[in-house]
Order: sequence, then structure tokens, then C-alpha cells
Amino acid sequence: MFLKKPETIELIESHRSIRKFLDRPIEPDVLESILHAARWAPTSHNMQAYSVVIVKNPETKRKLSEVCGDQRYVRECPVFLVVCADFYKLRLASEMHGETLAVEELENVLVGSVDAALVAQNLLLGSRAYGLGGVMIGGIRNDAQAVGELLKLPEYVFPVMGMCLGYPDPDKEPWQKPRMPVQAVFHEETYHTEAVPAALTEYDEIMSDYYTRRTDGRRTSGWTEQLAAYISKPRRKELTEFIKKQGFNLK
Ligand SMILES: Cc1cc2nc3c(=O)[nH]c(=O)nc-3n(C[C@H](O)[C@H](O)[C@H](O)COP(=O)(O)O)c2cc1C
Repeated sequence: MFLKKPETIELIESHRSIRKFLDRPIEPDVLESILHAARWAPTSHNMQAYSVVIVKNPETKRKLSEVCGDQRYVRECPVFLVVCADFYKLRLASEMHGETLAVEELENVLVGSVDAALVAQNLLLGSRAYGLGGVMIGGIRNDAQAVGELLKLPEYVFPVMGMCLGYPDPDKEPWQKPRMPVQAVFHEETYHTEAVPAALTEYDEIMSDYYTRRTDGRRTSGWTEQLAAYISKPRRKELTEFIKKQGFNLK
């Protein structure tokens, strides 16, 4: 049977991260519409344990781009969002009602991060619906302390990801990066470890071919080789300390 894909599925499946933007601002009403729509993400226990700092100031973007590992698109995009996990509002609620704020388990760090991620994906998809594009920026966690100071993040707030938004440069449309075969990510009824190695081998071939074509042979490695190297080093060790300093007295 031929299934006609709805527009939303087409939009999701045409995703690619955008790192080259036109020198064109985002219209205020468009940005407002995207931001307001993103709030309709589902949220754990209706906590809405997130907040978004909207940065347009060129100097702030420049500083953030440095903090994010000198990623040029952070300063080049017209709007940079910093999506945070946020228990500041929960803290106020606790104070108002004489309750304690129990945030010493990993659970609430996850809750805030998941809420932030759901809103972030809504922001990206909402942007795409208006012809905008963007890229999420984990580099915002490189130096969370500096980000906290620059953006005046109060206690119980930490950055989860940044997001560059803008009108994509049509002359620089990026290739779409292939995803893993479905056998590596979906499991019927129970997890099927036996299906994973073959799926990864298949994906290595797909990614090796993708990089070979995209870089005219300068890069040929597959996914497992690349990610094994990446995951071999501990990253952002200071982040745990910053999260604790913000008030999450993790055990
Ligand atoms: C939470 C998160 C953080 C990311 N951080 C960065 C980043 O700091 N810099 C960057 O260039 N891309 C970043 N990306 C984009 C990923 O590299 C990209 O999504 C992935 O390689 C797949 O490519 P695609 O989005 O074009 O399909 C991030 C993506 C996510 C979801």
C-alpha cells in the first residue's frame, strides 16, 4: 500500500543541521510564534523545568561562540537560544509553601534536561515550519560557569544546549547525514542485542561512503571508528561541579 506521508513527517525527515545562515534577521512575530509554540512540549509532572535565554546581542553571541569552542555559527546566526534546565521556579514554589526542594538525586537533573530537550526539538521544528533552520550546540556546556555568569543564570538553572537559528543559506545546503539502520534503534517487544552488530557494520559502510563522497575521499572512517575515538575521552568534567554549585546537591 502506498502511504502518503503527512507534511509533518516530511518536515521531520528532511532534517539537517544548518550552520550557514543568510545575513537576515528573524522577524519578531515569527520568533515569537516559534517560542510560544515550543512551550506546548510535554513536560514531566507539569514541572516545566526549563527556560530559554534568547540572545541577539552581537557581543554576547561573540562571547558565547568562544565559550562554545569558537564555533563561528554561534556568532553568525541572528538568534542564539540557550535552553536551560530550570528548577529556580520550583525553588520559589517550595519557598512559597514552606516545603524543601529535594534535588539531591540524579532524577531531577534528568527531568530538567529532558524537559529542555523536548522544548529544544519543538523550537527547531517550529523554526523549520517558517523556513528557518538551525543547529543545537552542546558546546554551551564546555564552560557552564562562564555561560552562567554571562547570562546571569540564577541558582537551580544550568544550560543544557544552545541553538543557532536563522534563514539557511540556500547556496550552502548541507548534505543529509544518514541515520542508523532501524535494527540498531528499534526492538520488537524486547531488546535484541543480536541484531545490533550487523546493523552497525551496515551503518559503518553507509557512513564511510557518505564521508568519502562528501569530502572527496579525505575522510573515509565509519561510525564505529569515529565514535569509539570520541567516547574514549572523558568530557566536561567541570559540569558536575557547576550543577552542584547551582544548588543540585547531588550525592
Ligand atoms: C544536544 C546536541 C548538541 C549538539 N552540539 C553541537 C555542537 O556543539 N556543534 C555542532 O556543530 N553541532 C552540534 N550538534 C549537531 C550534531 O552534530 C548533529 O545533529 C549530528 O551530527 C547529526 O547531523 P544532522 O543534525 O545534520 O542530521 C548537536 C546536536 C545535539 C542534539
